Amino acid sequence: MRTTVGIVGGGPAGLLLGRLLDNAGIDNVVLERRDRAYVEQRQRAGILEQSTADTLRAAGAGERMDREGLVHHGIELRFARGSHRIDFPALTGGRGVLVYAQTEVVKDLIALRLAEGGPLLFDAQVDAVDGVAGESPVIRYRHQGAERTLHCSYVVGCDGFHGVARQAVPAEVSTHYERAYPYSWLGILADAPPVYEELVYAHSERGFALASVRSPTVSRLYLQVPNGTDPADWSDERIWDELDARFALEADPGWRLARGPVRSKAVLPMRSHVTEPMRYGRLFLAGDAAHIVPPTGAKGLNLAAADVTVLARALIEQQETGSSGLLDAYSDTCLRRVWRAEHFSYLMTTTLHTDPAHSPFDTRLQLAQLARFTSSPHAAAELADNYTGLPLPR
Ligand code: APR
Ligand code: PHB
Repeated sequence: MRTTVGIVGGGPAGLLLGRLLDNAGIDNVVLERRDRAYVEQRQRAGILEQSTADTLRAAGAGERMDREGLVHHGIELRFARGSHRIDFPALTGGRGVLVYAQTEVVKDLIALRLAEGGPLLFDAQVDAVDGVAGESPVIRYRHQGAERTLHCSYVVGCDGFHGVARQAVPAEVSTHYERAYPYSWLGILADAPPVYEELVYAHSERGFALASVRSPTVSRLYLQVPNGTDPADWSDERIWDELDARFALEADPGWRLARGPVRSKAVLPMRSHVTEPMRYGRLFLAGDAAHIVPPTGAKGLNLAAADVTVLARALIEQQETGSSGLLDAYSDTCLRRVWRAEHFSYLMTTTLHTDPAHSPFDTRLQLAQLARFTSSPHAAAELADNYTGLPLPR
C-alpha cells in the first residue's frame, strides 16, 4: 500500500490529523493497533480548550460536542478547608473551556472517518518505521495475520508514549527530558450526579482530590494515592469516605458527595516527558509520542490537538505550494507551546499534591501559592490564561 501521509496510532492525535488531511484532500492512512471498542472506551481527561474545540468545529467534527459538551466558566480551588473560585471569562477576556470527554472526541472522529474518510485500520500493529532519513519511508505493520508495508511520503508518529515511531529517531539526535512524580491518581467513573457545577481541585493534608463530570448522571473523580497502589485495595466505600474527607469545608461540615455505583477504577502514574526535536527527516512526532504531562492541568489532549493542527497546516502548505517552510519550523513551533504547558502542568501538580518528602515548610509554600492564585487578579489571570489555553501558534 502507498499513501502520502502514514499515521501511526489512532488516538486523538492520529484521528484528528487524519480528519484535517482528509478535509484538505491529502491522502493518508491511520494504523491503530487496538480494536475500535478499546480505543473508544479508554478513559482519559475531558477538558477542551477553546482552540481545541474551534479546531474540531472547523474540521466538521464538532456537532455532537456542541450539543452535549458543557461550557465551564471557571474552576474551584479548595485548600485549608476553604473554597475559592477562578472566574475564567472575567480573567481572560471571555474564554472558557468545554467539558467533553476524550472518549467522545475519539468516537466522533472514528465515525466520521469510517463514513467519509481515508483508510483507518484497527488491529494493525506497527512494528517499525524505516527509511525516514531518506525520501521513501516505510511503515512495517501486521494486519489480519499478515506482515504488510505502507510506503509513504511522510510518517507521523501519533502512537503515544509507548509507541514505536520515536524509536526510528537515532539516539544521538534526540534528547529526552523527564520527571516522574512520587504519587499517582486513582480515577473512578461513578453513576452519581456531580454535586458541583464546576471542577473542584482540592489540596488537603490527606492528599489531592479532583471532582470532574462526564454527564448529569456520571461523575469522574480522582484521589491522589501512593505509587504502586493496587485499585483492589480501595473499596467503593473507602473511596467515597476519602473523597468526602479531602473535599471537606470548614463552613459546611455536614456536606457529602452524592454516592453511586463505581463503574471503573484505575491507577494512573504521573509523568512529565518531552522529546526534542519532534521531527527527524520525514518522521514527525505528535501528541503523547512526543510529550507527556501530568493530568492536573488537563493539557494532554489539547497539546496533541495543537500539534496536529500545526502539522496539518504545514503538510497542506507543502502539498499545495511545494514550500517546506512550515514543516521545517514544526518542531520549534510546537515545542514553545509544549514547554509552556509542561510548566503549567508541573506547577498545578506540585502546588496541589502532598509530596511524601515534603516538610511542613514546603506545605506552607504550597498554601502561599494557592492563596496568591485566589487573592491576586494577576496570579489568577495567569492560571486562567493557561488553563483555558494559549492561542494556537500562527
Ligand atoms: N502500532 C499502532 N498503533 C499504536 C502503536 C503501534 N505500535 N503503539 C501505540 N499505538 C496506538 C495506541 O493504541 C493508541 O490508540 O496509538 C494511539 C496513541 O493514542 P494516545 O495514547 O491517546 O495518544 P495521543 O493520540 O497523542 O493523544 C494524547 O491522550 O494519552 C492521552 O493524556 C493524553 O489526552 C492526551 C491524549
Ligand atoms: C477529567 O475530567 O477526567 C479531568 C478533568 C480535569 C483534569 C484532569 C482530568 O485536570
